[in-house]
Amino acid sequence: MVSKSETIVCPARTVRGSVRLPGDKSISHRYAMLAAIANGSSRLENYSTGADCASTLRCLKSVGVFAERADGAQSVIIRGLGPSLAAPSEPLDCGNSGSTMRMLSGIVAAQKFKSEMVGDASLSRRPMERVIKPLTGMGAKIESHGGKPPLRITGAGLKAIDYKMPVASAQVKSCLLFAGLLADGETRIEEPVRTRDHGELALRAFGAEVARNGSEVRIRGGQRLRGIEACVPGDLSSAAFFLCAAALFPRSHLLIDGLLMNPTRARLLDILMQMGLEISVTQLDEVHGEMVGTIQVDGGRLKGATIAGADTAVLIDEIPVLAAIAPYTEQGIEVRDATELRIKESDRIAAIAANLRLMGANVEENEDGLKIPGQQNLRGAVLESFGDHRIAMAFAVAALRAEGESLIRGAEAAAVSYPAFFSTLEGLVER
Ligand code: S3P
Repeated sequence: MVSKSETIVCPARTVRGSVRLPGDKSISHRYAMLAAIANGSSRLENYSTGADCASTLRCLKSVGVFAERADGAQSVIIRGLGPSLAAPSEPLDCGNSGSTMRMLSGIVAAQKFKSEMVGDASLSRRPMERVIKPLTGMGAKIESHGGKPPLRITGAGLKAIDYKMPVASAQVKSCLLFAGLLADGETRIEEPVRTRDHGELALRAFGAEVARNGSEVRIRGGQRLRGIEACVPGDLSSAAFFLCAAALFPRSHLLIDGLLMNPTRARLLDILMQMGLEISVTQLDEVHGEMVGTIQVDGGRLKGATIAGADTAVLIDEIPVLAAIAPYTEQGIEVRDATELRIKESDRIAAIAANLRLMGANVEENEDGLKIPGQQNLRGAVLESFGDHRIAMAFAVAALRAEGESLIRGAEAAAVSYPAFFSTLEGLVER
């Protein structure tokens, strides 16, 4: 059991230095899951160090897959079992990880065994109807606790589905692509707005054909995967905390290499540039279909922004930190169309509003977002992580420009995606 920790964050003068991020969480999950159902071994370098991606490895081990860290934990070796996994003798423990439960359910639903997927208190409150409904439509039997975990899945030979997703969710899209790969026939998924495409790219990297036409993705069942050697690009959603920290100070300077630059994830860079941060891309490569680059970042002005519609969906993980720095901007930040934020690891709209108010900010909280005026001076305060990694890290960033020190309760939540966050941040700030 992780002990509850408090972390003190003192105000900073600026942020300067070089940083390389641990592997992207979204890609790590997908590579590990596909490696498990591939033929042959995979070596995944720079696999995410976060507890969520460790949950995926733990679940894969429970279904008979060899999945172990190597090279001083820098890499993960996975020996694929092909499409048929082994019946688990224990529940699959997804911990705090919604990605593990939602995406892996697409694979276990296609197996010849029964399995149970469980999660921690936060995950047990999150909606799973979004995967239960289509997987049931494909032939699996799934019992849940009123649409929430635990999930008791009776696997079956699945049949393909033609499915129009009611919510924009890359996790659901990947779940159905993975189930579709193991199903009979061609699965067709239509998304309401374009979400991150790591599932599609990862499937192709492992040798499957995936077709896209506008908002529709298709996959033919029965294709075999083969193991890969890959280096997971640095997590852009983790980099967001350092980028927003840099945005707070006109003299800041950061160099980030090996960073994921996938266009379906990189909207944050556009928004921060529109707000006044100078970002130049000094190198750009494509590896297994994913764009990876080096960026150089210089602080400047910090104008405001409005995040709404399709932007909200693609910036969903970066909104907490953008909102946390909003009071320091010139025009403020407004977030709309973000009801999904209320059903993440915490109710992130309420968590952001509560912490900003504790720092003395004026905030308007709406059902689907927040309106945070700019040009506010905040004071250091005792802040809450609400057990949510992104809230803990977002408010460590906000605390850098407050007057007086802040204490973040439950700061250990950061380890869900980025265990070294606080020490890395300390190494970059100048006081
Ligand atoms: C993720 C998709 C998003 C995001 C989550 C990771 C993914 O969730 O919030 O952190 O890897 O597909 P939704 O699919 O629920 O929007």
